[in-house]
Amino acid sequence: MLRIINVVGARPNFMKIAPIVDEMRRRSDRIQPLLVHTGQHYDDSMSESFFKDLQIPRADMNLGVGSGSHAEQTARIMLAFEPVLQDFRPDWVVVVGDVNSTMAATIVASKLLVRVAHVEAGLRSRDRSMPEEINRIVTDSLADLLLTPSRDADENLLREGISPQKIRFVGNVMIDTLRRNLDRARGLDVLDRLGLQSKQFCVMTLHRPSNVDDKQTLQGILDAMCALAERLPVVFAVHPRTQARIEEFGLEERIRKQPRAVLTEPLGYLEFLQLYSNSRLVLTDSGGIQEETTVLGIPCLTLRENTERPITVTEGTNRVVGSDPRRIEREAIDALDNSTRPARIPEFWDGHTASRIVDAIEERSRTED
Ligand code: UD1
Repeated sequence: MLRIINVVGARPNFMKIAPIVDEMRRRSDRIQPLLVHTGQHYDDSMSESFFKDLQIPRADMNLGVGSGSHAEQTARIMLAFEPVLQDFRPDWVVVVGDVNSTMAATIVASKLLVRVAHVEAGLRSRDRSMPEEINRIVTDSLADLLLTPSRDADENLLREGISPQKIRFVGNVMIDTLRRNLDRARGLDVLDRLGLQSKQFCVMTLHRPSNVDDKQTLQGILDAMCALAERLPVVFAVHPRTQARIEEFGLEERIRKQPRAVLTEPLGYLEFLQLYSNSRLVLTDSGGIQEETTVLGIPCLTLRENTERPITVTEGTNRVVGSDPRRIEREAIDALDNSTRPARIPEFWDGHTASRIVDAIEERSRTED
């Protein structure tokens, strides 16, 4: 029996772990999975609602670490996770994505000589001012099995000197979740509730420190949003960090002057899926949304200077446009006027990645027994 601890912590982790835990439970004659939530995200709208929407079984354990500086948060996760590993003595720890919980759990497991499988390995923005880039580099250099979403990720890892035996191209597990939930999302009334018509609005999300922690930058992006709203309504689903900065910088009044900019709390997985899948254009600084819009063929503008997901640009619908308000406006108008951009769905973003992941873990366990 393989004992496996699956770790989640923050919003973008939940849609990645859901199909993996599901697949492990289907193999319950051979695998005993445990789900550990670090508690990095704790608001209902950032955590619990995803468990409900994605029908993820309750976490077996919540370490309750909450918010803090990077060092504080990472240290608290490590302190709380170590005894869990010592008690459960798993054969593997599975971590996903690039949040602080991903890196913290990896460091603890590696030092206790527990094998780590990293799902979404090999992505690189080459921008070390981004905390996630540090998390990716540390996690990938320690993990024993690197499960990659795209071929460019394999190349990044090889270039860093990682042994090819550790790397397995499995595809994008988030797309498993997307495909499984499209029909369920279709029945929701979120468009009616917000007074929107399909393909007659844009969606925006924003939460990166580089975009929201500096007043000038945040104000510029919000001004661009308000200008775009003159053309088409924009729904802006506001992350708690961003909400706090808008209040701190006194920017509410600016937004309130534009009634076609519709602000909402962070939405649940299904409601947000229903929303952006019906939108004309998405503006975001999220990683996952670049991938989801590519699969659904929705034009996406990434409000960052770089992306660790270049395949969404070369094959998909994504354009990396930075955070200069004039450029955002120009690119948005261009995307609205010339929206027929052919997109390809990348290899293995096919809804079957979770089973390839669990196969790879089982295979690796057999060869090393
Ligand atoms: C984290 C991840 C980021 C991911 C994002 C998705 C890291 C380094 N960053 O960023 O990669 O894209 O999650 O949301 O791991 N807060 C709440 N309620 C919550 C969680 C956070 O109010 O449930 C507020 C707190 O003020 C907190 C701030 O948001 O200080 C930032 O939270 P944190 O978990 O540190 O990082 P995120 O910005 O959410």
